[in-house]
Amino acid sequence: MSPHLFTPIQLGGITLPNRVVIAPMCQYSADDGSMTDWHHVHLGTYACSGAGLFVVEKTNVTREGRITHGCTGLYNDHNEAAMARAVQVYRGITRNPIGIQIGHAGRKASAAVPWQGGKALGPTESPWQTVAPSAIPFGDGWHTPREFTREEIRGLVDAFAAAILRAKRVGYDLVELHSAHGYLIHQFLSPLSNKRTDEYGKDRMKFPLEVARAARDVWPKERALGIRINATDWVDGGWTPEEAVIYAKELKRIGLDFICVSSGATVPYAKIPVTPGFQVPFAEKIRKEAGIKTRAVGMIADADQAEEILASGKADMVAMARALLDNPRWVWHAAEHFSVKIEYPPQYSRVHASVWPGAALARPPASVSKAA
Ligand SMILES: Cc1cc2nc3c(=O)[nH]c(=O)nc-3n(C[C@H](O)[C@H](O)[C@H](O)COP(=O)(O)O)c2cc1C
Repeated sequence: MSPHLFTPIQLGGITLPNRVVIAPMCQYSADDGSMTDWHHVHLGTYACSGAGLFVVEKTNVTREGRITHGCTGLYNDHNEAAMARAVQVYRGITRNPIGIQIGHAGRKASAAVPWQGGKALGPTESPWQTVAPSAIPFGDGWHTPREFTREEIRGLVDAFAAAILRAKRVGYDLVELHSAHGYLIHQFLSPLSNKRTDEYGKDRMKFPLEVARAARDVWPKERALGIRINATDWVDGGWTPEEAVIYAKELKRIGLDFICVSSGATVPYAKIPVTPGFQVPFAEKIRKEAGIKTRAVGMIADADQAEEILASGKADMVAMARALLDNPRWVWHAAEHFSVKIEYPPQYSRVHASVWPGAALARPPASVSKAA
């Protein structure tokens, strides 16, 4: 029987040839929201990877919604044209689907790139005024955001729809809303960051569900629409797995095709028990209780570990970030591990283990061996 990892899966109107998803990863290398040469290299690498789906980094619906000066956006024509070119590079290499994550950083915007400390931008670093559901900073030393007016919130729903329309024109197969990790949509959901007294505070799901509905209205049913959510803030008094299930049921009702289940990053002081597959039980809970396809993510790095998650029905797909940064050939090696033949770019076909005796020597044992 073929391994679950290499069984195709249908999401909305598209089919992923296998269930390994390259998770969205900010590259902090854009120029005023527009992709650069770096993105061509980065996307090109993953177009060669064999992954069933690659999701482009959190791309922001407004300029002020970027985390850093280097984050991608889809807020002007130049952003759209630069992204269309990058996606064209990707399409020239593989037939596998490509997706994009759409979001807004809210109070976590105006920050330095990680390799320059990742903290709030200082006065000489061209910071900007951040905006959020409530005027509560992310943590000590972070900018205090200005609270959105109700009119601005309605405008934000339109900004999400406009960016998604740009993503449609760029030609993505899949859109994933970013409703996790303490960014804007999640800031509305979490009682730690949403203290509003109007309808957007009394019903913390109101704005997120308005965005989901707007996305469903503009994104074609023949493609795939999903969302990444937090299952928990890992803090007493924060967003809970039970609320996440209620949210997931609503998202399913709106017509979303899948949910990627993550957690944390709402506040800097959360204590998170990071162990292999630590978020998988949340994906399982949402899959069982909300009845929607789920993607597990977080500390999944081993092929047998990934296979077990799918085979035991805990999730429908696995997403990986750091394992694929570390080893962009992870999928090739996992396929080899399970004796599955996958499509390589023809230029690279001579390294396939079936034709290259050196393959066994070249495999670092940790790439597909059992997790410690
Ligand atoms: C360099 C880097 C950039 C990331 N950028 C994003 C992002 O744009 N959107 C997002 O939802 N998560 C982002 N993440 C989180 C990953 O998608 C993933 O959820 C997290 O790294 C846990 O998975 P892993 O253990 O496989 O790395 C990023 C992670 C890394 C390492």
